[in-house]
Amino acid sequence: MKIEELIERALYARDNMTYTPYSKYKVGACVEMEDGSVYSGGNIEIASYSPTNCAERTAIFKAVSEGKRKIKRIAVVGDSFYTFPCGVCRQVIREFSKNPEIIIANTKEDYKIYTLEDLLPHSFGPEDLEGEK
Ligand code: THU
Repeated sequence: MKIEELIERALYARDNMTYTPYSKYKVGACVEMEDGSVYSGGNIEIASYSPTNCAERTAIFKAVSEGKRKIKRIAVVGDSFYTFPCGVCRQVIREFSKNPEIIIANTKEDYKIYTLEDLLPHSFGPEDLEGEK
């Protein structure tokens, strides 16, 4: 899928797929898996706050629950200029790919591309539990 289309879906998720009664800060994400399938989601807030789920994780968990395991790239849009994934989401992205592209978008025309390695260097992941000590 073209990057612009992925961003468009993330923008749609931000505008239509969130539940943010507390912060009112809306975030949308759209993840493209290695097989070409795409899943989008918004942040979901909970009154006791800590169970809140970020947009990135909503999109990724939708993909994983459909049996998809490998992230190719993910687009993220928030209410502020550029919204970067939180630390927890960076680790969740890491679980399903070592170094996917992360597209931080303001609009369809205004975006930056990072790799997970840029945002989460020296990461710990599933392979660390499998390899020799
Ligand atoms: N949030 C996301 O959905 N993704 C991020 O990358 C950063 C933060 C959400 C969580 C919460 O609902 C709101 O933004 C304010 O923190």
